[in-house]
Amino acid sequence: MTKVLIATYSQSGRTQEVADHLASLISNADQYQITVADDTFSNDMYETDAISTNQIQTGNFPELVNAIPNVKDYDLILVGSPVWRGAPATPVHTFLERLQGYQGEVATFYTDAGSAGDYEKNFKKWAGNLDVVSTHEGSHNIKHWVEQIM
Ligand SMILES: Cc1cc2nc3c(=O)[nH]c(=O)nc-3n(C[C@H](O)[C@H](O)[C@H](O)COP(=O)(O)O)c2cc1C
Repeated sequence: MTKVLIATYSQSGRTQEVADHLASLISNADQYQITVADDTFSNDMYETDAISTNQIQTGNFPELVNAIPNVKDYDLILVGSPVWRGAPATPVHTFLERLQGYQGEVATFYTDAGSAGDYEKNFKKWAGNLDVVSTHEGSHNIKHWVEQIM
């Protein structure tokens, strides 16, 4: 049976809701929350935008505060993120960097406010040599997506 890790960064809970829905549909799934220090971002969207843009420009991506599970245990990793300025949230960059060398499949799901821009392209760029097999937008048709990727 395919063993799945659902690894999610969610600042305000919407992407985590999708992750929980995915976990309820996949019998053999574990969840991991991609987490950075509490003072990394702001409750103000514009401040968070400025902070994350600076991280991208300087290559100074935020450290994760929790240990990543042993990814060799999983056949498929679903990576969840909000769209930030047409890209994944910057903690996802750190996670994907740490994932380099993983031999299984990776798929990504995201939530946004209506304009995903180049999310998929940027995710694939950040994923480097990882095998990205699928992308899913939003909170609808989750069951159908699970059937496709499993
Ligand atoms: C810094 C920042 C940048 C964002 N940029 C975009 C964007 O480019 N396009 C978009 O549709 N939504 C954008 N959003 C909205 C989020 O993608 C959206 O609210 C998302 O569902 C939040 O997910 P979360 O609750 O899991 O954090 C942005 C939000 C923040 C905080």
